[in-house]
Amino acid sequence: MKRMLSGIKPSGQLTLGNYIGALKEFVKYQEDYDMIVFIANLHCLTVYQDPEELRTNLRDTIALYLACGLDPKRSTIFMQSDVMEHAQLGFILSCNTYLGELNRMTQYKDKIAKGESALTAGFYSYPTLMASDILMYDPDFVPVGEDQKQHVELTRDIAERFNNKYGETFKVPAPLIPKIGARIMSLSDPTKKMSKSEESNKGCIYLLDDPKVASKKIMSAVTDMVNQINYDPENQPGVSNLLTILSTLSGRSIENLVNEFEGQGYGTLKKAVANEVSLLLGDLQVKYKEILASGIIDDVLKEGKEKAGRLAGVKLKEVQKRIGADL
Ligand code: AMP
Ligand code: TRP
Repeated sequence: MKRMLSGIKPSGQLTLGNYIGALKEFVKYQEDYDMIVFIANLHCLTVYQDPEELRTNLRDTIALYLACGLDPKRSTIFMQSDVMEHAQLGFILSCNTYLGELNRMTQYKDKIAKGESALTAGFYSYPTLMASDILMYDPDFVPVGEDQKQHVELTRDIAERFNNKYGETFKVPAPLIPKIGARIMSLSDPTKKMSKSEESNKGCIYLLDDPKVASKKIMSAVTDMVNQINYDPENQPGVSNLLTILSTLSGRSIENLVNEFEGQGYGTLKKAVANEVSLLLGDLQVKYKEILASGIIDDVLKEGKEKAGRLAGVKLKEVQKRIGADL
């Protein structure tokens, strides 16, 4: 069985973008793949997190993973910091990564361009920890949204370089980007990604938003003056984003939706999107509450830690042997 691996940072609440670009895909893939999913809690330390808030977000994230349908019997679900090997392999891989490569990472370049001054060394080198998360488990595919593609490509380069230097050690994984929904845009500025770290909350739907609040955000989504429902991300990014959300959640093709909404106003499209999103959130939140009340989270994490830890222990030993760090 082919293996897939992915992770999500628990900094802040999960968003509709995370659901469509990542979680929904994970749930689909667990049917046919050996799926490893983890909570990238070390990654979110690259910027300061309030410890209490982080703890709450961790619990929420895992409860939402389960509420979305990730099944701990089928998939391995664990917390990154529970498997210590990630940090050690991360350091070894950072010694096989060039500064020039990290300087080219878009996320880093964006922050520099914005003139952010207090960037940490952890933020700079985080793609090497991500490479460790991935290469540790020899996955065939890494399903991610568009924004993470560059990091998976760097991971491939690191794996190839290491294999050339020390002999075949890591499988070289491929990123797997959904054809539609890989980049859900902000509702208030459809030229920007819908993101947890957005300054105002208006453009971002959180999976734990009250469905009424989410509907309001959708009804006031920014569109355009064309007044025609077309799928044209370049010229009509707002309308195209709404069509994408509706298509991914309802399972209907964009073409089909464009035909159905032909000649209708944006308000009708927004209502349909608001309905679909409200149904999703309502359903997820019921399951989320059940999961929190059931107390199964600790068991899931314990089992995940054991399963992932076994694999990671073997891999790290192999790497240590390759580089001459064993005796
Ligand atoms: P993050 O929230 O940055 O940890 O991202 C977790 C996963 O969700 C990654 O695979 C991202 O590519 C994906 N993701 C985050 N935001 C979006 C978005 N707006 N649209 C689609 N996918 C997203
Ligand atoms: N860096 C990813 C993000 O910000 C999360 C992540 C960490 C990840 N390690 C990973 C994703 C390994 C896929 C595979 O979204």
